[in-house]
Amino acid sequence: QDEHFKKVIAHAKEYGYIFPSSEIYDGLSAVYDYAQNGAELKKNIREYWWKAMVQMHENIVGIDAAIFMHPTTWKASGHVDAFNDPLIDNKDSKKRYRADVLVEDYVAKIEAKIEKEVAKAQKRFGDSFDKEQFLATNGRVIEYQERADTILKRLGKSLENEDLADVRALIDELEIADPETGSKNWTDVKQFNLMFGTKLGASADSAMDLYLRPETAQGIFVNFLNVQKTGRMKIPFGIAQTGKAFRNEIVARQFIFRQREFEQMEMQFFVRPGEQKKWYETWKENRLKWHLSLGMGQDNYRFHDHEKLAHYADAATDIEFRFPFGFKELEGIHSRTDFDLGNHEKFSGKKLQYFDPELNESYVPYVVETSIGLDRMFLAVFSNALRDEELENGSTRTVLKIPAVLAPTKAAVLPLLKKDGLPEVARKIVDDLKWDFMIQYDDKDAVGRRYRRQDAAGTPFCITVDHQTLEDDTVTIRHRDTMEQQRVSISELRGIIARETDI
Ligand code: GAP
Repeated sequence: QDEHFKKVIAHAKEYGYIFPSSEIYDGLSAVYDYAQNGAELKKNIREYWWKAMVQMHENIVGIDAAIFMHPTTWKASGHVDAFNDPLIDNKDSKKRYRADVLVEDYVAKIEAKIEKEVAKAQKRFGDSFDKEQFLATNGRVIEYQERADTILKRLGKSLENEDLADVRALIDELEIADPETGSKNWTDVKQFNLMFGTKLGASADSAMDLYLRPETAQGIFVNFLNVQKTGRMKIPFGIAQTGKAFRNEIVARQFIFRQREFEQMEMQFFVRPGEQKKWYETWKENRLKWHLSLGMGQDNYRFHDHEKLAHYADAATDIEFRFPFGFKELEGIHSRTDFDLGNHEKFSGKKLQYFDPELNESYVPYVVETSIGLDRMFLAVFSNALRDEELENGSTRTVLKIPAVLAPTKAAVLPLLKKDGLPEVARKIVDDLKWDFMIQYDDKDAVGRRYRRQDAAGTPFCITVDHQTLEDDTVTIRHRDTMEQQRVSISELRGIIARETDI
């Protein structure tokens, strides 16, 4: 697993997806830049989300609020008081960790043991293997599961009760060591606020303390009434947005999984008080369907319902994905009650109520939110796509099987030779297709090498122009995943590519 993760990071750099930030100065911890292919993949994920959430829903509209917000926003939202991580320092190594993550990683190791048992049994029993039954009846697995559940429950309870001494006690009882040095010499656990502060205004006297937003959601809440009125929205309705968020995270080398600057894609769905449970279930189901529509494997997703709730929620779940380092949160779905709107009313003194014509009464709506990290989705797509495949002839190829709708370049056009008029025909195909798709022209090296290069870069189609093209206007189109080639006429290309890559 570690091996695969290392390959993912190296491949992302080599093929122009992700670079460390300011690399010539040795980089900046937990900050990354998206390169030429990465920016395209990211844009395509964002558009895939936007289309599903905004374009396909009559009752959801999108906005783009500013990163800077009035500082009172963050008092009202609870972030000034409660947006903390419990941190612990190792006295020997002087390294700082999130105490809850240390415990969760310990539990992840127990879960890995369960997966190992499952894999072993699957091998032994073959087709007749019933996973559900195995999990419910195998003594060792039940014991592991109970242990994992007990630990997580206790962690959840102590965090909820702000009982940091108990979190520390748990770390001692489990004999958790510094993952880098093995030392068990820990300090007490302390809360640490995650928001980045900055200043607005030039002179020292008039400067105003601001925060960089730690979530995009508040830009939606403060605009709730503006959007509702100008868009004549009727409850239930949603407001969506994508944009940067910032958190001063304590990070353990997880590449783009946990960054200090990242992008969120969030949707706040405003509902009648009392109907939040129903909408929470609906959005859980909708969002999982969205993930499954990309065909990245049903087994790679699971829900994780929260014991420990954020300061604003009455129910919360994560959609977890099987990352190279195990199942981890990819998206959160939260029932946020009227916590945010109610507090913004209190702090601003402005009414944030909706008049419900059917009930003939005004109320502060309840909110169900869906919140996914764009960078995490990128990592899910990229790490799942990267494969080393053994071919029938015994050779291997590295291929990036990114779902075609998300691939940065949809097709590469390759003249078989750099002569006989083939490059001119290839250029003409590029000029024609580039109005609709990201297309690349590539005439360097032998055509086999070019196929491999495009496989590794994730391009779903290679279109090859050869001497027959000059006679009958046909080309070969090669499919990345199957490596099958078809002979088709140039006029069919647009339709073939669109069928598989249109969002
Ligand atoms: N508005 C709710 C909210 O912000 P969250 O669970 O704190 O909830 C939502 O964050 C999503 O944002 C997460 O599921 C994750 O995908 C992404 N995310 C959060 N912190 C992140 C970080 N430091 N780096 C990358 N993505 C992050």
